[in-house]
Amino acid sequence: VKDKVAIVTGAGQGIGKEICRQIVEAGGRVVVNDIDQVLVDLTTKELGSRSIGHVGDMSNMEHIEGLINYALNEFGSVDILVANAGITLFGDFFEFGYEDFMKIMQVNLAGTFFLTQYAAKFMKSQGSGSIVFMSSVTGNQAHKQLAAYSMSKAALQMLAKNLVIELSPFNINVNCVAPGAIVTERTLMDQNYAETWAELTPMGRAGSVSDVANTVMFLISENARHITGQTIIVDGGWSVVSPNPKN
Ligand SMILES: NC(=O)c1ccc[n+]([C@@H]2O[C@H](COP(=O)([O-])OP(=O)(O)OC[C@H]3O[C@@H](n4cnc5c(N)ncnc54)[C@H](O)[C@@H]3O)[C@@H](O)[C@H]2O)c1
Repeated sequence: VKDKVAIVTGAGQGIGKEICRQIVEAGGRVVVNDIDQVLVDLTTKELGSRSIGHVGDMSNMEHIEGLINYALNEFGSVDILVANAGITLFGDFFEFGYEDFMKIMQVNLAGTFFLTQYAAKFMKSQGSGSIVFMSSVTGNQAHKQLAAYSMSKAALQMLAKNLVIELSPFNINVNCVAPGAIVTERTLMDQNYAETWAELTPMGRAGSVSDVANTVMFLISENARHITGQTIIVDGGWSVVSPNPKN
C-alpha cells in the first residue's frame, strides 16, 4: 500500500483504527472517517501527517459523497476503500422494531453500497482499485438476537460477489473480511468477553484487532490482486466446529 490513498470508515476506534494504523505504517495515506469527532481527532493525532480526518455519517448520502470528494481534494486519489463502519443492534425477533431494523440496513448495507458506488466511479476512471467490506461470521451462521444484523452482514458477502461482474473490467477487486469475536473497546464493555471467547474458540483466544487488520492488509495488497469476490473468515476456527456430546 506504499504511497496509496485509502479511505477507512468507522475508524475512530476498534478494528477500523487498527487498519488505519497498519496502512500508515506500511507507507500509505489514509482518510480516517468516523461519525464521532472526538475519536477522529484522537486517531489522526496518533497517526500523524499521513492521515487526515473526516467526520461524517456513512448512512447519509451527502456525507458519503463528501468523503470521496474530500479524499480526492486532499490526497488526489482513492486507491483503497475499507467499508468498515457498522452497527450491531441485538434484539429478540418478536420484539425487534422497524426503526432499529432500518438503522442497521441504512448504515451496514445502504451506506456500504453507495460509498462503494462513489469510490468505484473514481477507481474506474483511474483503472485500478481495491475494496474490502467488513462482514462478520454472523453473516455465515445463525446467532441468537442478531437476525437483522446477520442479514446485513450476509448481504455484504453477496454484494462483493456481485461486484466482481461490475468492477473486474476496471481492475478493481472487492472482498470481505468476516471477523468472529474480536476484542475491541466496544466488546470489552463485557468484562468477561475475552475469557468467554477464549474458551469457545478452537485457537484458544478471542481475536484481536490486528488479526482482522492483518487480513485486510493482505487483501488490499498487490499480492491479492487476483483474489476477488471472496470472504475470509477470521475467527480462530470458531465457525467451522459444531458442538459435540460431552462424552
Ligand atoms: N468487534 C467484533 O467482534 C466484530 C465482529 C464481527 C464484525 N465486526 C464488524 O467490524 C466493524 C468494526 O467493528 P468494531 O467492533 O471495531 O466497532 P466499534 O463499534 O468499536 O467501532 C465502530 C466505529 O464506527 C463508528 N460509526 C458508527 N456508526 C457510524 C456511521 N454511521 N458512520 C461512520 N462511523 C460510524 C463508531 O463511532 C465507532 O467508532 C463493524 O462493521 C462490525 O460490524 C466486529
